[in-house]
Amino acid sequence: MTLEEKAGQLTILADTIRPCNPDINPEVNHRQADEMVDQIRRSRVGSIFNGVGVKEGREAQRIAIEETRLGIPLIFGSDVIHGMWTVFPIPLGEAASFEPSIAEQTARATALETTASGIHWTFAPMVDVARDQRWGRVAEGSGEDVFLGKAFAVARVKGFQGSDLRSEDALLSTPKHFAAYGGVSGGMEYNFVEISESTLRDVHLPAFKACLDAGALTLMSAFNDIAGVPASGNKWLMTDILRGEWHFKGFVVSDYTADEELVNHGFAADGRDAARLAFTAGVDMSMQSGLYVDHLPDLVASGQVSLEAVDEGVRRILSVKKAIGLFENPYKCLDLKREESLEKIKSGHDELARESARRSIVLLKNEKLLPLKKSGQKILLVGPFASDVDNLHGCWTVYGDKKRAVPVDVGICMKSKDVEVLQGCNFEASTDRGIDEAVEAAKRADVVVLAIGEPEDFSGESQSRTQIVVPEAQQKLAEALAAAGTPIVVLLRTGRALAISGAVLRAEAILVTWFLGTQTGPAIADVLFGDYNPSGKLPVSFPADSGQQPLFYNAPRTGRPQGNGDRTFKATWREVHSKALFPFGFGLSYTSFSFATPLLSTSTMGWDETLKASVQVSNTGERDGEEVVQLYIHDCVASRVRPVRELKGFRKVLLRAGETQKISFELRRLDLSFHGADGNFQAEPGEFHLWISSSSAAGEPVKFQLMPASVA
Ligand code: BGC
Repeated sequence: MTLEEKAGQLTILADTIRPCNPDINPEVNHRQADEMVDQIRRSRVGSIFNGVGVKEGREAQRIAIEETRLGIPLIFGSDVIHGMWTVFPIPLGEAASFEPSIAEQTARATALETTASGIHWTFAPMVDVARDQRWGRVAEGSGEDVFLGKAFAVARVKGFQGSDLRSEDALLSTPKHFAAYGGVSGGMEYNFVEISESTLRDVHLPAFKACLDAGALTLMSAFNDIAGVPASGNKWLMTDILRGEWHFKGFVVSDYTADEELVNHGFAADGRDAARLAFTAGVDMSMQSGLYVDHLPDLVASGQVSLEAVDEGVRRILSVKKAIGLFENPYKCLDLKREESLEKIKSGHDELARESARRSIVLLKNEKLLPLKKSGQKILLVGPFASDVDNLHGCWTVYGDKKRAVPVDVGICMKSKDVEVLQGCNFEASTDRGIDEAVEAAKRADVVVLAIGEPEDFSGESQSRTQIVVPEAQQKLAEALAAAGTPIVVLLRTGRALAISGAVLRAEAILVTWFLGTQTGPAIADVLFGDYNPSGKLPVSFPADSGQQPLFYNAPRTGRPQGNGDRTFKATWREVHSKALFPFGFGLSYTSFSFATPLLSTSTMGWDETLKASVQVSNTGERDGEEVVQLYIHDCVASRVRPVRELKGFRKVLLRAGETQKISFELRRLDLSFHGADGNFQAEPGEFHLWISSSSAAGEPVKFQLMPASVA
């Protein structure tokens, strides 16, 4: 290979041959398509992204194979985050199911639709731990917890990739964004990240490592810096840790122009310098900037980048192309017949879309109002989301078949004939007329179902907020409806935890419905009318006030905890206490559960021993229901300040009305380990607390000791 051909393999560019939205400026697209064909012919690009369609995909691939000297096939990548044509709940919503197996199924279904559409590779899962709800990309990940996030990350990698990467329906996955992007200061998008190495290693890295262990072959480098060194130019991160410690054999792709942005960071002097720094730090493939094709040949010629390093980068990329079977079958995922069968594939996913959506809904509050009756109860469905079809999918749905998406009113009207539907207000701008009409209608109704929250574009990339509240116009509608006196069920649509207040918080019932995707309406109706008993739990803490951010349940202990007492000289605020309004792991059901005191196999756990912890959980209500049984620990004295609680196990169990089950967990020393003051990852002997509870704020701890290694 010539140096230019090598640099081409190290480059990915946006697909202008078959852009995902050809309606936008078709002429320009056409011209750009010609330019891209030229780039492929000249071997200046080895992968293209965010395009769709088999016919043009075949043509692009034909050019790469037949009209270039070496005939190396292209990889087609894309952002397929929570569904291709069938849209599943946003990842944050799906995490609320606390069922990684659901995520594995939706990722598999996504892979079937995506690979049939001419795409080999998705830039997902997003595995960034998000501890600040102001950050808009909270929606794309699994929330604030390391353990839960890891479980969902692994499930998604397995689901996308399937059991054999060479098979026609295997979708190559890319855990992103490496690393600590979720740690942006103040929750502000693209901001700096100032965290310690132990926080990086204990909180932000584990999901990546777990994904690689599960078979992920590519990673995407992040936009942010970490303690002053941009991730996309960070040799310690991408070479020492990733290659040295983790023995990663796949390749790293930069985020969109993240290599070029080293210049904006003030970390590189110009594009050439940025290419050098990103490449030598460990970014194998440059996305969209074109800096590698422009500068790598010259950087090698001048001795600033070694030929061996370039060869190694190319080898990694070609190995991944080989691993997915592209050399044997360059027309993989480019089968016209399979594409024609897409309608059938899609309709086979409706049931899964509904199931995953209803399992993602979280019941925050219920003062004997839910479930609703299917007849004999006059329902007013009101709010800007009542019949809206533009905000069902949520952020990062590049494709998403809008025609198949079922809004809330359609779902509800399928179950009850006694429904009046009104918009009430706009998403943001106040319209008193709509509010007056809604109030009149509420007075005639037995129950108000109020569909409010964040529009779709309030979360996702570049959508950080300072006030994580229900938009003003909608809050105003809620206040007016509350004054009418009819009981209210709030359907809260959101891509992050919100600080809810006033009439929204005082509503008789609150369901967090995230963005649920294609089957939004039917899934919400299933829960509203009790055809499905809600079982979701919050994957993020819902704060009492926006100003509490960053607020997450597993925060380190302070020297002056507030407890339940006075705020003076305690770690809290003047205006508001230091707790979440609805904590991580919280969620109600239409039945009730009780937890007995956990039982431990021993109160002195040997260094190499496995501790067994079990609990009797009873369904004390009159309906069958599912409960997420959660195991938390706390290390009471340690060389580094430990979180007040840490999730170390969870299981969703179905309990019939009146049934009691014993739920057991196992803990090993590894589960108690963290990066201590000496930088080593290890457990420290001494006292631990252990809870098995229904949320991160429930239950009473039992104690055990981890015995030192020397004590037999
Ligand atoms: C986002 C990535 C995405 C990439 C390619 C970037 O702006 O940060 O998550 O994969 O664009 O579309």
